Amino acid sequence: MLHFKKNDLCIEQVKLSDIAKQYGTSAYIYSKNQIIKNFEAYRKALGSKRGFICFACKTNSNGAILKLLAGIGAGADTTSGGEIYRCLKAGFNPSKIVYAGVGKTSEEIEYALKSKIFMFNIESFEELDAIDNIADKMKVKAKISFRINPYVNPDTHSYIVTGKKGTKFGIPYEDAVKAYLTAKKKKNVAIVGIHSHIGSQILNIASFKLAAQKIKKIVDAVEKNGIKLEYINCGGGLGIEYEEGQKVPDPSQLMLELFPVFDKDKKFIFEPGRSIIGNAGHMLIKILYRKISGGKSFLITDAGMNDLIRPTLYEAYHEIMPIKKTNAKKVKTDVVGPICESGDFIGKDRMLPIIEQGGYLLVTCTGAYGAAMSSEYNSRTLLPEVLVDGDKAVLIRKRASYKNLLLNEI
Ligand SMILES: Cc1ncc(COP(=O)(O)O)c(C=O)c1O
Repeated sequence: MLHFKKNDLCIEQVKLSDIAKQYGTSAYIYSKNQIIKNFEAYRKALGSKRGFICFACKTNSNGAILKLLAGIGAGADTTSGGEIYRCLKAGFNPSKIVYAGVGKTSEEIEYALKSKIFMFNIESFEELDAIDNIADKMKVKAKISFRINPYVNPDTHSYIVTGKKGTKFGIPYEDAVKAYLTAKKKKNVAIVGIHSHIGSQILNIASFKLAAQKIKKIVDAVEKNGIKLEYINCGGGLGIEYEEGQKVPDPSQLMLELFPVFDKDKKFIFEPGRSIIGNAGHMLIKILYRKISGGKSFLITDAGMNDLIRPTLYEAYHEIMPIKKTNAKKVKTDVVGPICESGDFIGKDRMLPIIEQGGYLLVTCTGAYGAAMSSEYNSRTLLPEVLVDGDKAVLIRKRASYKNLLLNEI
């Protein structure tokens, strides 16, 4: 939903220069209609198959965005008690909330049970014991799946691979059937399905298919033991186009490959995060100072690694573009933040037109793992967030103040 109207870069119908004037920078800006479009692509791909699409809210947990997704029928994939809390507050139906995570605490398990979420994706035998014990004390039955590590290594950054042998995630593939047989003997759990999530920003469907085929083998072995697995949860992980020309499969291509792997009567859950919100959000930043040092050109901006950690953490690429069309000469430039760390950069060696001090840039496709991973490092206040719908830009999170920095200190 980014496009130029004459010389102005717009998100939907709103000029980014107007948003900068109204809300200041740096700021996260989202397109409501892009979020809806991305979610609808999943729903359409699911078609008449029974099941649901759970938005992975770790990617972006702003309440207004969660409310929007809950309102159009999304479920939620959560990874902490805090995320369950946010999702309930935003209006998600608890019967569409799933909960994964290798380290669920007793308090979180109790909270999830009290909230009557749909199911736990269990990641270890000891977690199964913990859930069974807590459910027993609460006199409830916990609905569960096991997250199985299928030992599939997708081609993506090593920090976001989760399906590879030797990672901390899920039940080891060779222990999968044993996990279900153990759970069958527990009084306070009800087995409803199977789950796997192999990683994030995955651009080749072959990895998803291989994981599904391996999961199918477990399904068959488990069902031979009289345990019915109603739900197949395929996780999230579909990538987005960060760089022009990157080939990105869409949800229908993914599901077309996965559905035939399983029996017709299966219900499906998908947990997309990045592919729902990633290209719907962008970070608007201002050039504070320019300098040339050691023969290199630098743009020093008002956004740092605390606001967007992805370039620093994953060497992630985000396109950076001026919000005004210009014919100015392009030079190779590092776009950096104000933090005293060499890792504090937004982009390196970018060919950007020479822009005046005080000019604005847009760091694109930062809707996923952007604001959600931001911090107050260097006592920098968290950014405002703005949701654009057509010609309206609404503030959905205020810029934090210095007072916020001290909020819980004693
Ligand atoms: C269990 C689980 N499901 C879904 C996701 C969402 O992944 P993505 O944002 O790549 O779609 C994640 C993120 O890593 C995850 O850990």
